[in-house]
Amino acid sequence: MKRVTYLDSAATTPVRPEVLEAMLPYLGKEAFGNPSSAHRFGRAARAGIEEAKRTIAEAVGAEPNQVVFTSGGTEADNLAIIGAALAARDRGGPFRVAVSATEHKAVLAAAHAVRHLGGEEIILPVTASGLVEDAEIARAIDRGVAVVSVMWVNNEVGTVQPVRQLAERCREAGVLFHCDAVQAFGKVPVSLRDISCTLLTISGHKIGAPKGIGALIVRDRKAVEAIIHGGGQQFGIRPGTENVPGIIALGTAARLAAEEQQSLAPRLRELRDELERRVLAIVPDAVINGWQGERAPHVLNVSIPGTDSEALLMHLDLAGIACSSGSACSTGTVEPSHVLTAMGVPRDLGVAALRFSFGKDSTMEDVEAVTAALPKIVEKVRSLSTVLHR
Ligand SMILES: Cc1ncc(COP(=O)(O)O)c(C=O)c1O
Repeated sequence: MKRVTYLDSAATTPVRPEVLEAMLPYLGKEAFGNPSSAHRFGRAARAGIEEAKRTIAEAVGAEPNQVVFTSGGTEADNLAIIGAALAARDRGGPFRVAVSATEHKAVLAAAHAVRHLGGEEIILPVTASGLVEDAEIARAIDRGVAVVSVMWVNNEVGTVQPVRQLAERCREAGVLFHCDAVQAFGKVPVSLRDISCTLLTISGHKIGAPKGIGALIVRDRKAVEAIIHGGGQQFGIRPGTENVPGIIALGTAARLAAEEQQSLAPRLRELRDELERRVLAIVPDAVINGWQGERAPHVLNVSIPGTDSEALLMHLDLAGIACSSGSACSTGTVEPSHVLTAMGVPRDLGVAALRFSFGKDSTMEDVEAVTAALPKIVEKVRSLSTVLHR
């Protein structure tokens, strides 16, 4: 069988064997009970959930009763932003949220939803390296906001934000800070132990758990109001019968991600840096997006002038290489991604951007596969685009 190169781990990852093994009993007859049931089946499921909470809390430096399970990163981001805005409004506080311009659409669209509900959204601009400046946070705080949301690691370019500093600035002003750590967890050290971050999002499928499970760490229950209403599970913050197998999977994946982060990061960085060097050698006018700032080790975002990313992606796919153009969640549009646009990347480079993202199963063979395929593909796409634009 032809070897396939998967360099799209920031989009999703396969379920890890250890994770699958841990969740299987909760799918079958052993522990399928409803965790709200008082009988033995229910108690077995509840025990599994409590164990997962302890593990996840330990992995991110929080308390077990601060872990609120959701259907994934998107829902956790929505709960954080809309939930914090509603809670503030009900207390007579500002019905206004501030989010950075390079957030995932889950955060940006949630901020938009606050506006539709009659509130306000402030979009915090970023520098060329994708960083939110302290002064911008200060300006938003001066206007009065319920919550400031800035992601730990950007999913398209890998920019690492100075989360501690931003969270501290919010704490001083008595404003909630939410951080989307979906791309950070397992790749850079993530701990809430000494960070004033009240709300933190994680997602299972980026770390080897299945799709459809995530969590919002809620360190102050008064900080958010529920956006889903139902049976009162999870303190009423996120009711609904818990996704027990998913929760068990997230617990196991989170433990492994936290245990392995330190050894994984340098390996990912080595692979990423080697691919970056080779791409620049093959395409000397290629531009690394976000190179100016600190980047998480697993993401390489590169623009190849004179091409368009959809054509590159198609040819790479035909060559057995899976990667992404900007964000996998927003492919299909010909406009450059909102992240690159916010960073001031010119349109022609923005539409020519590829994202290669590494995971724990990535190897130097993957780098070699891209290196071998790229020269011909770039030549082909460039000549086609010259014909089309003549
Ligand atoms: C930074 C970031 N936030 C949120 C999400 C959404 O998470 P989920 O796919 O679990 O809804 C993603 C997924 O791509 C992401 O990369």
